[in-house]
Amino acid sequence: MIQEITCFEYAGKVLEKLNPGIFLTTSFEKNTNTMIIGWGGIIVQWGKPIFIVLVRDSRATYNLIEKSHEFTVSVPLKSALLDEIRICGTKSMRELDKFETCKFTKVKGRKIDTPIIGECTLHYECKVIYKQPLNQAMIPEQIKKHYYDKTANHTVYYGEIVDQYLYTKE
Ligand SMILES: Cc1cc2nc3c(=O)[nH]c(=O)nc-3n(C[C@H](O)[C@H](O)[C@H](O)COP(=O)(O)O)c2cc1C
Repeated sequence: MIQEITCFEYAGKVLEKLNPGIFLTTSFEKNTNTMIIGWGGIIVQWGKPIFIVLVRDSRATYNLIEKSHEFTVSVPLKSALLDEIRICGTKSMRELDKFETCKFTKVKGRKIDTPIIGECTLHYECKVIYKQPLNQAMIPEQIKKHYYDKTANHTVYYGEIVDQYLYTKE
């Protein structure tokens, strides 16, 4: 069952749920994958509602989003899904199929080709309208040392929110 919502109605809930983590799903051709994000949020830019996500260039998700130019964000509201968050936040698509391991249901997106996760309640469908790799030269030294000493850079993806709703499995 789908319940219509407005794009900003649950923005505060999204921020609250970034810790422990929410699901960023990407799909291209036969590959569908989800990973956990802890950074991001909903903003307004160019007069549009935009979901911002930051993806390290080393993620399998990065390769998919670079090809699909779209993504969905699924937020668990009713069940915590902590085991699933642990799996999707530590395992890569390169090692295992996370949809299969977590027994997640792929529910067809309404406006884009990327599915949502049927076991989550709150969903956003987004089309990438802008992206920007972080400029390492502009990052304060302490933060750079902490987050980028031995790890890949983040690219910031700006996904225009083209649909949002609450979903409950029948
Ligand atoms: C709580 C939590 C938050 C995370 N936030 C992010 C994030 O915002 N960006 C990111 O690139 N990785 C983040 N990760 C790491 C990815 O979810 C993790 O590396 C995942 O295995 C990548 O999967 P993939 O290679 O299939 O894309 C987070 C992990 C956890 C546990």
